[in-house]
Amino acid sequence: MHLTLNKGDFVCIVGPSGCGKTTFLNAVAGFLPIAEGSLTVDGRDIPGPGPDRAMVFQHASLLPWRSVLDNVTYGLELGRRVKRGEARERARELLDLVGLSAAADQHPGQLSGGMQQRVNLARALAVEPEVLLLDEPFASIDAQTREVMQGELLRICVEWDVTALFVTHDITEAAFLADRVCVFGPRPGTIVKEVDISLPRPRDQHIRKLPEFQALVEEISDTLHGAAAGPGAPAANGGTA
Ligand SMILES: Nc1ncnc2c1ncn2[C@@H]1O[C@H](COP(=O)(O)OP(=O)(O)OP(=O)(O)O)[C@@H](O)[C@H]1O
Ligand SMILES: [Mg+2]
Repeated sequence: MHLTLNKGDFVCIVGPSGCGKTTFLNAVAGFLPIAEGSLTVDGRDIPGPGPDRAMVFQHASLLPWRSVLDNVTYGLELGRRVKRGEARERARELLDLVGLSAAADQHPGQLSGGMQQRVNLARALAVEPEVLLLDEPFASIDAQTREVMQGELLRICVEWDVTALFVTHDITEAAFLADRVCVFGPRPGTIVKEVDISLPRPRDQHIRKLPEFQALVEEISDTLHGAAAGPGAPAANGGTA
């Protein structure tokens, strides 16, 4: 399997449960050793975790005893020698970016799930990663908030020139966000197809209504279901309507 991520790309990964999406992200993050093949960032092998890659997990996993602001500064305190005042200033900018300036002094328990996930995103961005790795970050958020978050994420990625690798089970989410959607097969470590999402940017919510958008969603869905049925199944586009 081969996947190239160029600077500024937004690539989404979809695939059946258990096909290795999380494992793949963990390998890119450097949390796992690679059994065979290679993973490189900027042409260099990945030796382990590093501040050039930041992970956003499905559950925000914020530190409950720290304020929202101090949760965002946490990564900076751990990773690099940044002066405390500087870290706090930077964290305030990030909270502003995710629309949570007013919640800086609150604690995670006082926030909604969507707000916690915004803090999670701000915390990942705090280390100024080259690549942002996101594993179903909006899966536990209600549909309406999720659409808002998707729009916000796109805005942030453009503003910060972020390269993103985003795992999701939600095909419309993948089509809305991505430049390319990579469909993993049921056998771990296989890519069935890469679907180019050639929809113009910047994208707003209206794009979901376009026939081109719906056609792309259908293409991804057919690929996914064809792949899930296994190699002996009829071609995805040759089955019943
Ligand atoms: N390339 C691989 N080779 C062998 N085993 C793998 C590989 N990738 C993943 N696995 C194994 O498959 C299992 C499921 O992997 P993983 O959690 O990454 O799936 P997932 O696609 O994230 O599933 P879900 O959609 O349910 O979150 C794990 O036990 C993992 O060790
Ligand atoms: Mg997973």
